[in-house]
Amino acid sequence: LPVPQLRQALLGWYAECGRDLPWRQTQDPYAIWISEIMLQQTQVQTVIPYYHRWLEAFPNISTLAQASQQQVLKLWQGLGYYARARNLHTAAQKILSEHDGQFPQGLEAVMDLPGIGRTTAGGILSAAFNQPQPILDGNVKRVLARLYALKQPPQKVVKLLWQLSSNLLDPVAPCEFNQALMDLGATICLPKNPQCPACPWLNYCQAHQQNLVKNIPMTTPS
Ligand code: ADE
Repeated sequence: LPVPQLRQALLGWYAECGRDLPWRQTQDPYAIWISEIMLQQTQVQTVIPYYHRWLEAFPNISTLAQASQQQVLKLWQGLGYYARARNLHTAAQKILSEHDGQFPQGLEAVMDLPGIGRTTAGGILSAAFNQPQPILDGNVKRVLARLYALKQPPQKVVKLLWQLSSNLLDPVAPCEFNQALMDLGATICLPKNPQCPACPWLNYCQAHQQNLVKNIPMTTPS
């Protein structure tokens, strides 16, 4: 597939149709980190008020590190998966002791923080520092599986999917590209009733050309 055209089409669509989300108005790695952890298992619309309250209570790494676990869990109340909040608290203390209070900028160092896997690390580093780090969450797996009409369940081809995400990533605008990819997965390339006529990649989508959008991503036979 023509990678430069795919990039241009996605970035053009994002400029027009991208969502205006609070964590896209900052380059503060701390705020972006908080948003990415909240968004791991929670919908955007639920996250937004929690995100604002959290930043009011804990505006930076050091205020979070110095808070009590009880204060931290109270602000998380209602979001579920409370290990996320405990990991944020522990990670803030680790950044204070091991990184002089500065959010690390290396992929390995970021992935060494509790609660941060490769896709969260890529999401943070691309958004905060415009680093060309690919992402691969559930939505992105579905988008790429369809774009390339992968005839295997995503779990079986994770390495390939990381390569595809990495090869597609726009080296000039990695921050916008990754945000655009997430928006495509969240608003157009839906699991059910995908909005193909509105998709910037319609003319490139291999699943669409092969009439397989309904069948891809494939599911594991059980
Ligand atoms: N899900 C995970 N990260 C996200 C982001 N930055 N914007 C929207 N949805 C997301």
